[in-house]
Amino acid sequence: MREFHPKTIIEPFRIRSVEPVHFTTLEQREAALKAAGYNPFLLRADDVLIDLLTDSGTGAMSSRQWAGMIASDESYAGASSFYRFEASVQDITGFKHVIPAHQGRAAENILFTAIAKKGDVIPSNTHFDTTRAHVEHNGAEARDQVIAEGRQPRLIHPFKGNMDIAALEKTIAEVGRERIPAIMLTVTNNSGGGQPVSMANVRAVSAIARANRIPFYIDACRFAENAWFIKTREDGYADKSPIEIAREMFSYADGCTMSAKKDGMANIGGFLALNDDTLAAQCRNLEILTEGFPTYGGMAGYDLEAIAQGLYEALDPHYLRYRIRSISYLGDRLTAAGVPIVLPTGGHAVYLDARAMLPHITPTQYPAWSLCNALYLVGGVRGVEIGTVMFGMQPDGTEKAATMDLVRLAFPRRTYTQSHVDYLAEVILEVFAQRDTLPGYRIVQQSPVLRHFTVRLEPITG
Ligand code: F0G
Repeated sequence: MREFHPKTIIEPFRIRSVEPVHFTTLEQREAALKAAGYNPFLLRADDVLIDLLTDSGTGAMSSRQWAGMIASDESYAGASSFYRFEASVQDITGFKHVIPAHQGRAAENILFTAIAKKGDVIPSNTHFDTTRAHVEHNGAEARDQVIAEGRQPRLIHPFKGNMDIAALEKTIAEVGRERIPAIMLTVTNNSGGGQPVSMANVRAVSAIARANRIPFYIDACRFAENAWFIKTREDGYADKSPIEIAREMFSYADGCTMSAKKDGMANIGGFLALNDDTLAAQCRNLEILTEGFPTYGGMAGYDLEAIAQGLYEALDPHYLRYRIRSISYLGDRLTAAGVPIVLPTGGHAVYLDARAMLPHITPTQYPAWSLCNALYLVGGVRGVEIGTVMFGMQPDGTEKAATMDLVRLAFPRRTYTQSHVDYLAEVILEVFAQRDTLPGYRIVQQSPVLRHFTVRLEPITG
């Protein structure tokens, strides 16, 4: 017999616990959306059929994770569950100190409270919203320096999440190393379309950081997905395993923040990991103040167990091949039908380019919001607007168009099957066929900060 190499990439799991999805009629969806002020965040999840609002904390856990959770140690201090968690994180990242936190932003809060102050600048490829918010909350500037290719939705480049090295060097020359408490890299780059960062770029950023004696931190939420892109797109990595690639990536950094709700395969949790002894002691003191004792840090023992196991499952090559393929599978179908999306598809989501799809809706009438609502009305699908409602409000109360108006369809891990994705493609194509009829929206009620979560709108008719 010869070795058989099938083209079909199957879900690398079988299912033994299921939950129902919720079917609704068009009439019910129209009523639900109206009652929610035309804001999908305000819908009840029971009124959603396929929920692609986020890939954060929404995935399915494995039988091994559940087994660990049942056998967890809930001791306040020194629980064995913590030591299993710590060993996993150390094994994969190589960092000496592991500080648990209840989610990514809690780790960011501890880190930036410890290192950032007024007048400082923290460069990154692109700060995620919560990272930016914590940097700014401590009076520092969060500076995004992704390569120019990363800002052009349909330009094909293998590593659109890369840091612009020349821009980084310019920032250091201008600002001075004393005012740069850290350089960060977000892998993959969520706000830039889930685009990966190459190992060469991680190495280059690290070399600059070390030459200037500036600490270098990785926002590691989707580190395993990034490792897969390095394996499949970067010369010299095809024969390396995802875990070897992840270890190399972390070896160039001084620490990382992590939301274990993503590549930790858990429903809640996170950590800060770092090598600096003095800073670690300072961070643990802050942790006691906000998260709890340093061997549980805002999590139950069973959460620590779920993550200790989940981090390895996220690095399984069969899982990663399926994971990245399920995103590109949808992307390929949409591209073939002429639907504008961010290309190439990234690690955790497909991003629809609403501004290109709906030229009759001006950015301040929120084309991506309109598209998002249409997906819900047509097919019960919930995505999220990443556009002018999310980013358009200026500190002085005026409004301007965001850089892009996108709808992110984020895939929860191990949750939906290929037929769900086929259905999703059909819904998107139906909305695409009706695109000329989609309305713009106006805001009727909003809050001054992070308005997208609670904003209420109405369609502009006539
Ligand atoms: N960094 C990145 C790159 C993220 O995508 C997120 C969360 C965080 C940090 C914060 O982690 O939610 O555990 O506090 N992203 C979610 C999303 C919310 O939908 O993209 P958290």
